[in-house]
Amino acid sequence: MKKVIMDCDPGIDDAIAITVLLAHPEIADVIGVTTVGGNVALNYVTQNAKKLLTFLGSHTELASGQAEPLVKEIETAGEIHGKTGMEGYDFPKESLDYPLASENAVTFIYNKLAESDEPVDIIATAPLTNIALLLKTFPEIHEKIDHIYVMGGSTLQGNITLASEFNAYVDPEAAKIVFDSGVPVTLSGLNLTENKAYMTMDEIKSIKDLGEVGVMASSILDFYAGAELEKGMTKIPIHDACAVISMLKPELFTKSENYSIDVGLTNDQFRGMTYPDRRVYAEEHNNVKVLEDVDREAFVKYLLDSIKSYDK
Ligand code: BDR
Ligand code: CA
Repeated sequence: MKKVIMDCDPGIDDAIAITVLLAHPEIADVIGVTTVGGNVALNYVTQNAKKLLTFLGSHTELASGQAEPLVKEIETAGEIHGKTGMEGYDFPKESLDYPLASENAVTFIYNKLAESDEPVDIIATAPLTNIALLLKTFPEIHEKIDHIYVMGGSTLQGNITLASEFNAYVDPEAAKIVFDSGVPVTLSGLNLTENKAYMTMDEIKSIKDLGEVGVMASSILDFYAGAELEKGMTKIPIHDACAVISMLKPELFTKSENYSIDVGLTNDQFRGMTYPDRRVYAEEHNNVKVLEDVDREAFVKYLLDSIKSYDK
């Protein structure tokens, strides 16, 4: 069993990703969930994490982290996730009583890593602000991290600009720190999440029949899928679930490539761009493993089975 920390900004696809992750205690011992400003402001994403963890019956410790990216002002994605970031389902008000750690997420993660006698995996499905601060502030802690599974970036199209994906665009300085840290990073970018690991609308609709957790998941996904369809997408990417499933079930990912990836830091359409350097001699600078293909049907089945497994 692997110890895991999940850093996220729920966010509807983050919520699905957390639901899938917590369905597999036989693989992942989730020793903390941490939040960071991203899809919506920090207070909302933290409230959403509380609602979801309560709903799923989890007792995982929760800590809230950075509200703003390292350099730029935050930009959010309320049009995709709703004003509060997890629209579509009425969670009971009492779920806001879920306990919150007193430390900031960066210190929280540091403490969890420091006290662990084995290396821990981090799954990061949001702007990388918390993780970059952790790596910069506590360089000695790198050796306690086994692997960082990131949803972010793209080796093909963007979703904010022609070149940039949301998480990388919101905090590119943080993404650069994480990619260049020397800690092994596996990237689920839009090239995978939109082009290969998407779900069809029929698959999304089938989620409501998967018990009480299925009803919750399908209600929030209705909102999210509606927003994606309105944007012109015909297939629905559950981006953050890719990072989680790449940790839980790596054998589903049928193609990957190691690349040297730099992150655009200019203030234009290339801000947050994560294009691989494909020149032969760039190989010696490879810093990231990019997932390029997946057995889509097995991926979707794994996601649906995980939701169904709650049996409530
Ligand atoms: C990423 O941006 C967010 O809106 C999603 O939660 C996901 O992490 C996709 O670009
Ligand atoms: Ca996210």
